[in-house]
Amino acid sequence: MNTATRIDQRIGVEFNFPVVFTDNIFAPENPALPDIVTRLREERPHRLLVMFDSGVVEAFPGICEAALSFIDAHPEKFVLARTPVVVTGGEQVKSGMERVEALCETMLEARLSRHCFVIGAGGAAFLDVVGMAAALVHRGVRLIRIPTTALAQADAGVGVKNGVNFAGVKNGLGTFAPPFGVVNDFSFLRSLPAARWREGIAEAFKVALIKDARFFHWLCDNAAKLAAGDETAQRHLVRRCAELHLEHIASSGDPFEMGRARPLDFGHWSAHKLETMSQFRISHGDAVAAGVLLDSIYAQMQGWLANEDLERLAAGMKAAHLPTNFPEMHERDAAGKLALFGGLEDFREHLGGELSVTFPNDVGQVRQENSIDLGTMTAALKKLEAR
Ligand SMILES: NC(=O)c1ccc[n+]([C@@H]2O[C@H](COP(=O)([O-])OP(=O)(O)OC[C@H]3O[C@@H](n4cnc5c(N)ncnc54)[C@H](O)[C@@H]3O)[C@@H](O)[C@H]2O)c1
Ligand SMILES: [Zn+2]
Repeated sequence: MNTATRIDQRIGVEFNFPVVFTDNIFAPENPALPDIVTRLREERPHRLLVMFDSGVVEAFPGICEAALSFIDAHPEKFVLARTPVVVTGGEQVKSGMERVEALCETMLEARLSRHCFVIGAGGAAFLDVVGMAAALVHRGVRLIRIPTTALAQADAGVGVKNGVNFAGVKNGLGTFAPPFGVVNDFSFLRSLPAARWREGIAEAFKVALIKDARFFHWLCDNAAKLAAGDETAQRHLVRRCAELHLEHIASSGDPFEMGRARPLDFGHWSAHKLETMSQFRISHGDAVAAGVLLDSIYAQMQGWLANEDLERLAAGMKAAHLPTNFPEMHERDAAGKLALFGGLEDFREHLGGELSVTFPNDVGQVRQENSIDLGTMTAALKKLEAR
């Protein structure tokens, strides 16, 4: 006779982390960092390891010294574990595990414990790598993110994921690891070249189209201003996107993406494929712009999105100088199949065998589709190319 006994284990865990919006984080009187580090009211100085994206150090040459004097000015709160570490930023840092392993070694050599802090200031690629190392060392040391690109402040930096590209798969390895805190310091965004800004605008169109009609129309009306560097508009973009992300993660019931629906991946099945096909010559943000427009054309063809809204989106993206068509999108493999469609297969695999692709359902709402009509998607690609 087969018998079995079982214990139904149940673990409920709550995560809390502040996301602070500020300027000049290392100005002597700025309370953002000390407030986050001491938020658990532990009565002891905290050991910190500070890491910078090389792009940030190039754009702000005195930044390491500013961080050091800030830490020195708060001896009752902070102890430096070692001198700041500068890591080359950009997508290259995410290629494979090499950089993650090197950072793990640095963290272990600095004798960080789970109660110590890693503070990482940089773009989303850099934060993905620092975040992954911080999640692995001793199974997790505390991470404070200081995102320094528009995309990172509006999107990746306030989320709960990290990862690296591995074995030819975009974000093939990674973990879910909520940060200890996030500081969105707008002053870092002043050095961003226009191309970096427009990548943040691409992710803003993505989230607005499926979550917030008012914000979508605001983006369309302000796209040119945003691309031209209007700071009031840029601040609003970062703030609203971050809010929408945080709301989604807190209230979707699926913060660690166990289910199939991935609204925040709208437009990403093709974007990830496009990035990989171009060997990452095409940036994530630019690929997202093309992916979002492609899936919006498909939605319009299916009757889910009004033509007028599609045209507003296309005009808004154009005003923001977003590229929305790339030759790679139309490449065919030896069998004559569009190579881009491999992205749907990757996505299906990633979701455990059953596809669930997000589309807008009118502006501001989502619909999940379990299958894609490849004939219509091919026609959508042609329309995209013809624009
Ligand atoms: N973990 C997530 O949830 C998540 C979400 C969305 C995107 N991502 C990932 O984010 C990556 C893209 O990140 P990104 O758009 O932030 O670009 P990025 O991190 O690749 O940075 C782009 C360039 O900007 C430089 N840089 C950073 N801050 C700067 C500043 N203030 N001034 C001047 N230069 C600066 C960097 O050194 C780099 O050369 C992709 O790999 C994507 O997969 C992750
Ligand atoms: Zn994205």
